[in-house]
Amino acid sequence: MKFGYFDDPSREYVITQPDTPLPWINYLGSEAYFGLISNTAGGYSFYKDARLRRLTRYRYNNSPLDMGGRYLYLRDNNTGKYWSPTWMPTCVKLDEYECRHGQGYTVITSKLNGIKSSARYFVPLGESLEIWQMTLTNESASESDLSLFSAIEFCLWDANDDATNFQRNYSIGQVEVADDVIYHKTEYRERRDHFAYFACSEKLAGFDTMRETFQGAYHGWNEPCVVDSGKSGNSIANGWQPIGSHHVKVHLKAGEQKQVIFILGYQENPKEDKFDPPGSQIINKKRAKQALEKYLLPVNADKAFADLREYWTTLLGKMQVTTPDEHTNRMVNIWNAYQCMVTFNMSRSASYFESGIGRGMGFRDSNQDLLGFVHMIPGRARERILDIAATQLKDGGAFHQYQPLTKRGNNDVGSGFNDDPLWLVLGVAAYIKESGDWSILEEPVQYENEPGTESPLYEHLQRSIQYTLDRLGPNNLPLIGRADWNDCLNLNCFSDTPGQSFQTTTNKDGKVAESVFIAGLFVLACSEMKGLAEHYVERQKSNVGHLTFDVRPSTFYTNAAAGMEKTAWAAGWDGDWFRRAYDDFGHVLGSKENTEGRIFIEPQGICVMAGLGVENGNAVKALNSVAEHLATPHGIVLQQPAFSQYYLHLGEISSYPPGYKENAGIFCHTNPWIMIAEAVVGRGDKAFDYYKRINPSAREEISELHKCEPYVYAQMIAGRDAATHGEAKNSWLTGTAAWNYVAITQYILGICPSLDGLEINPVIPEKWDGFKATRKYRGVTYHITVTNPKHVCKGVEKVMVNGRQVEGSLICAEKGAGEVNVEVVMG
Ligand code: GLC
Ligand code: GLC
Repeated sequence: MKFGYFDDPSREYVITQPDTPLPWINYLGSEAYFGLISNTAGGYSFYKDARLRRLTRYRYNNSPLDMGGRYLYLRDNNTGKYWSPTWMPTCVKLDEYECRHGQGYTVITSKLNGIKSSARYFVPLGESLEIWQMTLTNESASESDLSLFSAIEFCLWDANDDATNFQRNYSIGQVEVADDVIYHKTEYRERRDHFAYFACSEKLAGFDTMRETFQGAYHGWNEPCVVDSGKSGNSIANGWQPIGSHHVKVHLKAGEQKQVIFILGYQENPKEDKFDPPGSQIINKKRAKQALEKYLLPVNADKAFADLREYWTTLLGKMQVTTPDEHTNRMVNIWNAYQCMVTFNMSRSASYFESGIGRGMGFRDSNQDLLGFVHMIPGRARERILDIAATQLKDGGAFHQYQPLTKRGNNDVGSGFNDDPLWLVLGVAAYIKESGDWSILEEPVQYENEPGTESPLYEHLQRSIQYTLDRLGPNNLPLIGRADWNDCLNLNCFSDTPGQSFQTTTNKDGKVAESVFIAGLFVLACSEMKGLAEHYVERQKSNVGHLTFDVRPSTFYTNAAAGMEKTAWAAGWDGDWFRRAYDDFGHVLGSKENTEGRIFIEPQGICVMAGLGVENGNAVKALNSVAEHLATPHGIVLQQPAFSQYYLHLGEISSYPPGYKENAGIFCHTNPWIMIAEAVVGRGDKAFDYYKRINPSAREEISELHKCEPYVYAQMIAGRDAATHGEAKNSWLTGTAAWNYVAITQYILGICPSLDGLEINPVIPEKWDGFKATRKYRGVTYHITVTNPKHVCKGVEKVMVNGRQVEGSLICAEKGAGEVNVEVVMG
């Protein structure tokens, strides 16, 4: 069953009924000011950090779902009847309803009793404010006398404190109302230099800033007293719960239309210029007023919206494809790329499932996210890499997480996730392959954010590799530490106390438990380092004259990788698949010797991606085992058989009921590794089949089962051991976005940036006649046409660049070449 449809030419998903299985959300903002918005206008806004600078309240895990939002109410003053034009919170049945989610904006249109309304929500580029453009049309035959109310509830900035510290919070709320603008200034009187403002383009009939007055103490957002009576209280909040509500009277003749604009904004003032007049306690509103003057005018709001559309046309225009599969086209061209940008902005902080108060930016997560957005915003990817690298520890390890506002490593979680540093190598390599910007390797970067510890980024990468080499276990495999990619495989933390953190209550010395996954990742990272060393150290030696550290030759990495491969075959190969790990007792995991957890997906993906077994046939064997033991119609589960009970020596993985999350759920992040691995062994049909199984657009028809948004990937789909097999959770903020983007664009369609240029090597379904792609790369636009006359999965017979045949499949046009036509004939 579907709850909407894709409107591809508009790049929108159109939701046609408001009661979707879960709130289907979207994001507003792309730089500093952000918001979540659901298909019924639920959600909240924040500035930079969803925990520390939250503007409005939202109630997670509430019943009914999705409480708190950007609410509007319409009241027919003749009958006293009122409704929500975005359906929530009144849930009055509408005659028409439609929500269009686009890139950075959402438009909710509805109609009741002849009154049509359309609310467009977005954040203008470069601004710290959001615009709600509400257009009302009287499509009835008679004149209407309406009241339009807005309503938001302010958050007292620190969302965690806001939800817990009531003994203080009930006394600190403060607002000002001046010239019909509502200002929220809690704590501005003391250390804060920022406030929020909420304004309306029309003259007000009234306003409210006290929730109790607006709603009534025992009423909900669905039946606020003020809307019910049609009369605002003009209340001024002193403590308790400050809100913002405007009341506008709208008279519309039959056929008449009117636009009302609301603006919610965030403003900082220089500390010495906080008050006006100086010495008073009154907010200096000068800066906020400038923004209001501009954006309360429809013409400027429209222009800002057009600019936002254009911005996304440019970003998405970096890669556009036309393949025989519509699900592929819309995910690659629109939604998957968009989701990658959202993971860049949000990391794992704020979604319907991530509360915005928990996690900072993950070291491994952010490096992987980068793989999916680096081609759209290489400049910001560079910045992100340098921020992440500065949280690396001197021994090559890494803070597992850092806070986006402070950019400092998070001490509560600390380090010791032994895969972390290797992802930095992959992230940096991806950046250079995309941009050709070798200078990043020479950027001085601190360790542990400690001034005076700067060394070139390249040295950080060397230490990342060394970190693994310094931590090998009894089988010479890498020690796992607190966890590797699988946060829940906690082999050094025997936790028997409820509430303890599975990852950080480490109580084993960590000298025994090893990870085959890290071994594979290490080989992959070494092959990237080999490439960098060959190019950077050996070819461009002149540039590295000032390096003070010992620069290793590329052979160092070839040898290190060869050594690890040998170990992997000796201790990590089980006969039909790669093993997963060795526990603290030295017992194997992910082997035929096990009764539960006999085969895991991660090492099959990463080892084959690293090239292991591609020549000796073991890669195909491992992938066949995946197909046999792990693949389901809804995607590939993480391991089998699921753990049927909690195992002290395995940790969180066995804490989940079978079929969910890391305990044999379809942990979607890992599926593209198998797609890539299948592409590496040349099996285009299989790679694409796996791609289709978790492609959210391809799952749209089963939305009642899938439940999450059909336009973005979710972290997890319940596995076959679960009662709800096929049901997705944790949509939006997942490494699944970046990896699927990489799998489809670089491995299946095979348009892959390399250190020397664009490598074109498709591995597609046999039945495809070919496909077309436009790829902007290092300043050149490549128009690529791939034909598949012999209907093969793999193999490039001929490549023509601007009509001339070239050797091999590496394309590297001169800078300034403008537009280049590439024809690829498979065979
Ligand atoms: C979550 C984490 C990620 C981890 C994965 C598997 O997505 O953010 O870091 O790799 O779970 O446990
Ligand atoms: C839990 C989740 C896992 C996530 C981790 C992040 O362990 O199961 O997916 O990576 O939390 O801290």
